[in-house]
Amino acid sequence: MAVSRGGFSSRMGFIMAAAGSAVGLGNIWGFPTQTASNGGAAFVLVYLVLAFCLAYPAFMAELLIGRYGQANAVTSLQKMSRTLWQKRFAFVVGFGGIICAALILSFYGIIAGWMMSYAIEPLFLLANMQISADWVITHSLARNLFFTSVFMALTIVIIRRGVENGIEKWSKRLMPLLIGLMVLLTSYVFTLDGASEGLEAYLNPDVSRLLDPNLLISALGQAFFSLSLGTSVMVIYGSYISKKENLVTLGAQVTLIDVSIAFLAGLLIIPAMYVAQAQGVAIFAEDGSLISGSSLVFTVLPTLFDSMGGVGLFVALAFFVLMSIAALTSSISMLEGPVSYAVERHNLKRETATTVIGLIILLFSVVIVFNLSFMLDFVAILATQYWQPIIAMLCCVFVGWIWHRSELLAEIKEGNDEVENSLFWKVWPWYTKFVCPAAIAIVFIHSL
Ligand code: PFF
Repeated sequence: MAVSRGGFSSRMGFIMAAAGSAVGLGNIWGFPTQTASNGGAAFVLVYLVLAFCLAYPAFMAELLIGRYGQANAVTSLQKMSRTLWQKRFAFVVGFGGIICAALILSFYGIIAGWMMSYAIEPLFLLANMQISADWVITHSLARNLFFTSVFMALTIVIIRRGVENGIEKWSKRLMPLLIGLMVLLTSYVFTLDGASEGLEAYLNPDVSRLLDPNLLISALGQAFFSLSLGTSVMVIYGSYISKKENLVTLGAQVTLIDVSIAFLAGLLIIPAMYVAQAQGVAIFAEDGSLISGSSLVFTVLPTLFDSMGGVGLFVALAFFVLMSIAALTSSISMLEGPVSYAVERHNLKRETATTVIGLIILLFSVVIVFNLSFMLDFVAILATQYWQPIIAMLCCVFVGWIWHRSELLAEIKEGNDEVENSLFWKVWPWYTKFVCPAAIAIVFIHSL
C-alpha cells in the first residue's frame, strides 16, 4: 500500500511540502496585518509563545495520526478507533477536516487569483499594454472568474502528478524562491526612507496589550491557520513520511520555518507601510489604527510601488509573485486532503479524482465570486474561525483520549528511540489531552 500511494522521497521533501502548506497568505498578509492592528511586537511575542506551546503540540498530534494510519484522515483516525461510536466519531472528524480544507480552498483560490492578477500587471506595463494592465487590476466579474480559474488549474495540475512528482517537486522549487524573493524585497525596503520608523513600530511592544483577550484570540487563531491545522492536511502529509524519520524534530523544524517566515514578512510589510507614509500615502485608518486587510495589499502597497518609478514595476512584480507562490504551495495541500480520500476510499484514479474535486471546488468559488460582497467573508469566517478550530480540537481529543497510550508511544518511537526519556514525552501527552483542547475551546467560546 505504501508504495502505491506514494510518499515524500526525503526528509527535505517533507519539510518543504509541510512548510509550503503552512507558509501562505496567512503569513505574508495575515500575520503582519494582525501585528499592525494588535500592538506591534506585543502580538509577535504572544504569537511566538502560542505557536510553540499550543499550535506545535496540536500539529504533532495531526502528523502522528497520519503517520500511524498511513492513509487519508478518515481511514487513519478509524485505525485508532476500537468501538463503533469511535469509528463514527473518527469519520466525523476526518471528513469534517477534509470539507474544511475544500471550503478554505474555495475562497483562498479567489484571493490567490487577485495576487496573480497583480503580478501580471507590471508585465503588461513593461510591454506598454496599458488597457490590459488596467483590466487585470480592476475589480470585475470576468477578471475574478478568469484568475480564480487559472489559479485552480495550476493547483489541479500539480496535484494530478502525485506526492513526489507534484507536491514535493514543486514545493522544493517554489519554497527557496519564495524565501529568496522575500529576503531581497526586505533588504530593498530597508534602504528606503521611513523604513526605520516602521521597524520601530514593529519591534516595540505595547506591553499594556500583552494580556488583552482579543490579542490572545487573534494570535491563537493566526497560529492555527498558519500551521494548516484542523483541515486533514497535516494528517495526510504525516502519512507520507517514512517511519524512519524523527517526527518530533521534523514538526519542530516546520513550525520554526513557519514562524520565522511570518516574522520576516512583518519585517517587510510594516516598514514598507511607513515607507509609503514617507511618500505621502495614508497608512492610518480614521480610528488611528494602521490600514490592514485588502486595502493594505491592493491599495497602500501598489501606491508605494507606483511612487518608486521604474524600479517599482520590478518590486511590484516580485512582491505579487511572492504572494502567488505562497498561495500555491498552500492550495495544493488543501486539494490533497479531499483527493487522497477519494482515491483511497472510493478507488478513483488520482488524475480523475483531482480534476473532478478541483472542478467542484472551483464551481463553489464561482458561486462565491458571483456573490462576493457577502459570501467571501462568510465562507472565510465559517471555515477558519469555527470549523478549523473545532476539528483541530477534536484531533487532540482523539489523540489524548481515544488513542491507546502504548500505541501512541510506539508510533512516536519510530525514528526516535530515545523519546520515552525526553521532555517531549513527559509534557506533550497531557498537554494534548488537557491543555490544547481546553485552550482551543476557550478561544472558540470567547470568539462567539
Ligand atoms: N497555512 C496557510 C496560510 O498561512 O496561508 C493556510 C492554509 C493552508 C490553511 C492549508 C489551511 C490549509 F489546509
